[in-house]
Amino acid sequence: MTRTVYVNGQYLPEDQATVSIFDRGFLMADGVYEVTSVLDGKLIDFGGHCARLARSLAELEMAAPCSDQELLAIHRELVRVNDMTDGMVYLQVTRGNPGDRDFAYPSADIKPTLVMFTQSKPGLADAPAAKVGWKVISVPDARWGRRDIKTVQLLYPSMAKMMAKAAHVDDSWFVQDGAVTEGTSNNAYIVKGNRIITRHLSSDILHGITRAAVLRFAAEAQMEVEERAFTIAEAQDADEAFITSASAFVMPVVQIDGADIGNGAPGAVTTRLREIYIDEMRRAAI
Ligand code: PDD
Repeated sequence: MTRTVYVNGQYLPEDQATVSIFDRGFLMADGVYEVTSVLDGKLIDFGGHCARLARSLAELEMAAPCSDQELLAIHRELVRVNDMTDGMVYLQVTRGNPGDRDFAYPSADIKPTLVMFTQSKPGLADAPAAKVGWKVISVPDARWGRRDIKTVQLLYPSMAKMMAKAAHVDDSWFVQDGAVTEGTSNNAYIVKGNRIITRHLSSDILHGITRAAVLRFAAEAQMEVEERAFTIAEAQDADEAFITSASAFVMPVVQIDGADIGNGAPGAVTTRLREIYIDEMRRAAI
């Protein structure tokens, strides 16, 4: 079945949707994005993703393509026309097509480009990987310094994913000045006893929407939360480790640079947090 996608006000078959070669998303990676998961045909934490989109746009002095209500309507229409039960909706906003290539931003009357598409993942919440956990390697964090802005400039994360593949593991954790920042496309955590440790918010990491929800649920479940940097050695010595993202939810990490975490299987705290997150998010989905 051909997917229906959205581009600048139109719903089109994916092979008919086009963007200009002068679009600044293509020429300059001058764009931001969001990923919202869908479970049972409903959007997970849509409000959180809209709020972060607004922040990313504001940080880059980029105009919003439309209102949050309109974005919600487009998300829902794409889910409906593509008959998607579980999966993701991807949204990309770029600074549009000024008709030429120039490093300077074009004038504000150039309309942003809005592209949206779905990726179906039947059984997303029951991913078999959650039962065995991920293995990760550490790699130097060679990204730019504004990782709090969710830009489409994803080349180094892609390179780090390829490094993970070459090492026959599932993902890479970035390390900067001896401490873990985050995963290629997720936030990183370790667990010691009843305490969850994850890097504090700053421009060094993306402010994960899943992170915010999981830390809230952890506190409500009487777990301790400590927001600070940690090293790979500390992670290898932890009881458990996990990552969070809109598409993987809460995913156990069972090995780092070849060293098993705990007994090398998903831990109890991680498993409980994954259950709570998926249950609560299904309940609140719109
Ligand atoms: N990635 N850190 C980075 C670098 C990310 O790219 C992501 C999300 C996260 C987690 O954020 P959230 O919980 O809001 O998804 C953290 C998405 C899923 C992606 O690029 O596919």
